[in-house]
Amino acid sequence: MDENNLILPNHLAIILDGNGRWAKKRNMPRSYGHIVGTDNLEKMCDVIADMGIKYLTVYAFSTENWKRAQDEVALLMNLFRKYLKRCEKKAVRNHMRVRIIGDPTALAPDLQEEIHYLEEMSSGYDQMYFQIAINYGGRDEIERAVTKLADDARKGVLPEGRVTGETFEKYLDTAGIPDPDLLIRTSGEQRISNFLLWQLAYTEFYFTDTAWPDFHKEDLIKAIEAYDHRNRRFGNA
Ligand code: FPP
Repeated sequence: MDENNLILPNHLAIILDGNGRWAKKRNMPRSYGHIVGTDNLEKMCDVIADMGIKYLTVYAFSTENWKRAQDEVALLMNLFRKYLKRCEKKAVRNHMRVRIIGDPTALAPDLQEEIHYLEEMSSGYDQMYFQIAINYGGRDEIERAVTKLADDARKGVLPEGRVTGETFEKYLDTAGIPDPDLLIRTSGEQRISNFLLWQLAYTEFYFTDTAWPDFHKEDLIKAIEAYDHRNRRFGNA
């Protein structure tokens, strides 16, 4: 199918999985997989922007990932540091607003500052919206949302009566961002692993055995073709 005739998802979410296994297969340390995975995210971000996809959300570090070996966590944090810095240029190139979802309070102060800076400097862009989930967990997000909502209820800020989904969503990290249309998970696992639990209610899922460092434009087009095919067959429901 011609790439230009594809119905694109408005919001694409990706679970970037398989860096470690990809490296192991090549007799390299897991860290190498994360480095190549990071380079691939930079490239794919431009590919996705150039295709015209409006919203992209990626799962970079979960609330559970702190349990990994200390040196791996430290390496990932350093990669995020460097990557977020480089992301400033991407924001300009793609006219892209960047937001970090998740709880930033557990991150190192300099990383929190970088996040703040990147979010501020890109806040005026509206060509594309890029969300990076760092220290993110779907249940954690819901707990934090409910806590804020209960605080507002106590203060009398909320209207009395039933709390609707529309009200609840305003308290999520993704407030104002439409739900994903397509979720891709690379590297063979078929779970959502605590990603966007509320937001994935009606999302199409696409799983591939390809590991994240090997996931390129042609793999993305295959995923979008499958999504397009399902939409044409069943319509959006
Ligand atoms: C999955 O590989 C990836 C992660 C745990 C997160 C790290 C993601 C990247 C480094 C990509 C770039 C993202 C940013 C924001 C710079 P894994 O370690 O779970 O692989 P495995 O399942 O094979 O062990």
